[in-house]
Amino acid sequence: MLCDFLIFSDLVVILADLLLILQFDKDNIITFHIAMYRTKTCGELRLANAGEQVTLAGWVQRTRKMGGMTFVDLRDRYGITQIVFNNEVDAALCDNANKLGREFVVQVTGTVAERSSKNANLPTGDVEIIATAMNVLSESATPPFTIEDNTDGGDDLRMKYRYLDLRRNCVRKNLELRHRMTILIRNFLDSRDFIEVETPILIGSTPEGARDFVVPSRMNPGQFYALPQSPQTLKQLLMVAGFDRYFQIAKCFRDEDLRADRQPEFTQIDCEMSYVHQDDVLEIFEDMARHLFKEVRGVELPAKLQQMTWHDAMRLYGSDKPDLRFGMQFVELMDVMKKGKFGVFDDAAYIGGICVPGCADYSRKQLDELTNFVKRPQVGAKGLVYVKYNADGTIKSSVDKFYDEADLLELKKAMGASDGDLVLILSGDNANKTRIQLCSLRLEMGERLGLRDKDKFECLWIVDFPLFEWSDEEQRLMATHHPFTMPNPDDIPLLDEHPERVRAMAYDFVCNGIEVGGGSLRIHDGKLQEKMFEILGFTPERAMAQFGFLINAFKYGAPPHAGLAFGLDRFVSIMAGLDSIRDCIAFPKNNSGRDVMLDAPSEIAQEQLDELYLNVDEQRVNLLKNK
Ligand code: AMO
Repeated sequence: MLCDFLIFSDLVVILADLLLILQFDKDNIITFHIAMYRTKTCGELRLANAGEQVTLAGWVQRTRKMGGMTFVDLRDRYGITQIVFNNEVDAALCDNANKLGREFVVQVTGTVAERSSKNANLPTGDVEIIATAMNVLSESATPPFTIEDNTDGGDDLRMKYRYLDLRRNCVRKNLELRHRMTILIRNFLDSRDFIEVETPILIGSTPEGARDFVVPSRMNPGQFYALPQSPQTLKQLLMVAGFDRYFQIAKCFRDEDLRADRQPEFTQIDCEMSYVHQDDVLEIFEDMARHLFKEVRGVELPAKLQQMTWHDAMRLYGSDKPDLRFGMQFVELMDVMKKGKFGVFDDAAYIGGICVPGCADYSRKQLDELTNFVKRPQVGAKGLVYVKYNADGTIKSSVDKFYDEADLLELKKAMGASDGDLVLILSGDNANKTRIQLCSLRLEMGERLGLRDKDKFECLWIVDFPLFEWSDEEQRLMATHHPFTMPNPDDIPLLDEHPERVRAMAYDFVCNGIEVGGGSLRIHDGKLQEKMFEILGFTPERAMAQFGFLINAFKYGAPPHAGLAFGLDRFVSIMAGLDSIRDCIAFPKNNSGRDVMLDAPSEIAQEQLDELYLNVDEQRVNLLKNK
């Protein structure tokens, strides 16, 4: 860039600072090319730099005109620095500064000076730059929303202009954290002898319980690749290949309904190890989690994390990912409440309660709100029973006319309630469903009482998952994790008669009520694998057609192996205290699976369809669109 705007004395100083490169152009005229657009970033100047000549480059956050002075807040990834243009010193320069619009990209040269009115909210708030030169590098149209933490842009608008959203400090810092965590993870796993191996994205179907995203193959007409739901089978093949310890920061794709912690395209920290028992796997990944929490949040996890069986998690919290930041464990009340006095409870298969400390003073309105909450279709309970153990020793409940004081005192004892506490009870004819409803109520109470503190971290392992679960949709047993999960050796005799009672050698890493990771010991015995496929309803032919590559590989000496995958997006969002994993993904999809910025997915040209031997069923598509 030609610096013809700089006066000679400035140039001498800047020559030293900016590593100017002298070049002869084709007419043998000496031109000055600044090798560096900037000598400092907008986040690093302090009082100690006062008097220095500097050049900064960045975006105009805002301009303010006060008397003969124009103040510009210049922003880059590192921070914001105030630039001052003084009309009395250089009227033309000040004039140019007054023409700057929001998000213009400018380069400013000037002298660092102590500020008379300091801004304690900015790390650079003690200083300002007295501008001597300015160069507009790029103009900007008026941005569709303000580039500030508290922006006026709604969700859709911000997603459409995600590159502007990413300029906001609060969004960018999530991606910086993601980068930092990725580096920490890579270094940790490298230090434990894990080798990073890339596996292909265009593969065949991998059974992880969701639908596949498929890609048509032009060279193989009528045939499709599937994008990996995870590199599960490939990492097992790497164990057969002798890699011993593998990891990959792997992109995974699942066509499933989206939620705050689900994206159709997400990233796993995918790992596999040979010659390990379950405890070895838990120990190494517990160490990794401990390392991350310490480095990123300065939080010390306990020396050994709690291991809770799936059965206990469901019994005590109605969830396989319990939030242990607060108590309110479930108490089963069948023995206490079934007294032939209240039909709803007498007929119920399950009655469970939670004790909410200090909430006996809940008003009628608050209790009605809770009743409406449990009756919402998303929760699905028929009603809610409450018992208030008032601070003065009196008792008030919604079932006063069915139960006498002695009954309610018995309940108080069973619940471990004290005066001042509120007991909330749900019942139903399906124990698991009712537990899940009670789980929603418990989490709601935790939320209302501010107990789900984002700066507190409670991690645990859930172990002993059932190997199979019944699918109402498919009307058959399905693998809870995937078909390659090892049954608990003690339960193998149950496989034929009571497969539903067989426990899996599987484990989930749960933090603050979120499943952050999951894995299992794998079957490495061909016969046992065949048995699994049989229970899952695969004919030997279908198993061979879908998993022949793995079944064959296992014939050539498969070491005992096990693994786990953490969801990187979930891990980062927990560390950053985010409500949705979208906030730590650079270009996420919206709730309908769309990238609104790229306008994807989209129709493709007929020629492209023809090349792929594909036809779109327009009639069905239109029917769906008009629904
Ligand atoms: P699993 O299916 O439990 O296991 O996935 C592992 C972890 O990946 C994350 N995750 C997701 N994150 C965002 N959006 C999604 N749609 C999504 N789905 C899953 C979760 C989850 O804990 N192959 C096995 C792992 C193994 O057995 O080694 C697997 O994929 O954090």
